[in-house]
Amino acid sequence: MVEYKVKDLGLAGEGRLKIDWAEHHMPVLMLLRKQYSVEKPFEGLRIGAVLHVTKETAVLVKTLKDSGAEVFLAASNPLSTQDDVAAALVEYGINVFAWRGESSEEYYWCIRRVAESKPDIILDDGGDLHALLHSEYPDIADRLIGGTEETTTGVIRLKALERDGLLKYPAIAVNNAYTKYLFDNRYGTGQSTFDGILRATNVLIAGKVVVVAGYGWVGRGIALRARGLGARRVIVTEVDPIRALEAVFDGFEVMPMGKAAEIGDIFITATGNKAVIRGEHMVKMKDGAILANAGHFNVEVWIPDLEKMAESKRVIRPNVTEYKLKDGRRLYLLAEGRLVNLVAAEGHPSEVMDMSFANQFLAVKYLYDNRGKLPPKVFNPPREIDERIARLKLKAMGVEIDELTPEQREYLKSWRLGT
Ligand code: NAD
Ligand code: ADE
Repeated sequence: MVEYKVKDLGLAGEGRLKIDWAEHHMPVLMLLRKQYSVEKPFEGLRIGAVLHVTKETAVLVKTLKDSGAEVFLAASNPLSTQDDVAAALVEYGINVFAWRGESSEEYYWCIRRVAESKPDIILDDGGDLHALLHSEYPDIADRLIGGTEETTTGVIRLKALERDGLLKYPAIAVNNAYTKYLFDNRYGTGQSTFDGILRATNVLIAGKVVVVAGYGWVGRGIALRARGLGARRVIVTEVDPIRALEAVFDGFEVMPMGKAAEIGDIFITATGNKAVIRGEHMVKMKDGAILANAGHFNVEVWIPDLEKMAESKRVIRPNVTEYKLKDGRRLYLLAEGRLVNLVAAEGHPSEVMDMSFANQFLAVKYLYDNRGKLPPKVFNPPREIDERIARLKLKAMGVEIDELTPEQREYLKSWRLGT
């Protein structure tokens, strides 16, 4: 019997259409489904997943189910669930505990349903399930074959568990696959962050001053797209001197947030860090400045400072809260400071999630195939998986590449051959 708590099962029809659309744009994952739905490698396996409940996640969990697994799914953010997709997944036989607009208590209630399903393997996005299992369900964590992690922030948390000698199972840092972060973090977030900002505000980017905090993989993608949409100036803020230098050489202005705060029209945080935009910056901002976050947690724009400084607030459009400050200026916070691309839009396009989730699927298979053999450490995905996904994606896109000749292979291995 399928267990679930979703907003409205009546939305399943719309959800099915969305999933169909995603399936057409996720050829790599669909190829894996074709192969493994016949072989059924996960027969008898229970998988617990805490991921954004989107149409792309639906394609992943359906593929896991078709490959033999039983799946329990909760959302990795209280505001990112697509309710129609959640309903369609229940119809499909996935155990789903997720709806858009969960309170903090409800969010953890849903994750607990996944933990208490006693999964064999878990998939997480952001590390809340890993953290919960280690702090409150040690017995369940002890018997896990392993887990995966989708995003930079979650990998940081897993590495902290490993460093403290507390990690209880092998974990694959899916985020660290080349076919994940080079595409998902950069091009996926680059595009979907603006998708979210535009759906929420419909402001013109041309002529605006866009400030991007953090020049990691996500920040690079956002800065690139800000430039492409015609921003008058794109300013990057950083704390890492090498990344700051890279941003300068990529043609962006770099300055501290203290200075950028006075100039920016749109601020986008992408650091994975807390209080990157705080009261001391907000007091300098122009009337009408827009604040958005693309980092995993809602701590990058420090909302307690905004709340303290505000005389009043109102929701002026869906996903846009206007904070009226005591001096009359108005600051606009998007998506309650949560991931703007998943809350105000649909997250990354399917084409990019195709690779991220092919990595998730093959990471689960790797953990299962190597059960009992891996120590409790954080592993990067094996190179073969990355290359397999890249080749499949190229093929699906109709792109051919060269192969090394035997002579070239030899040459690249040799230290004898020179001028
Ligand atoms: P990253 O580690 O590559 O980059 C983060 C950058 O932020 C680093 O260069 C770091 O030096 C910089 N930074 C840290 N503190 C800063 C500060 N106070 N001011 C300015 N810069 C600062 O990480 P990433 O892969 O780019 O991911 C960034 C965040 O985005 C993470 O939380 C990640 O989980 C999240 N993420 C979100 C999505 C999405 O769909 N919205 C997708 C992928 C990743
Ligand atoms: N993270 C970013 N975009 C996503 C999407 N479309 N589905 C699931 N997780 C995501």
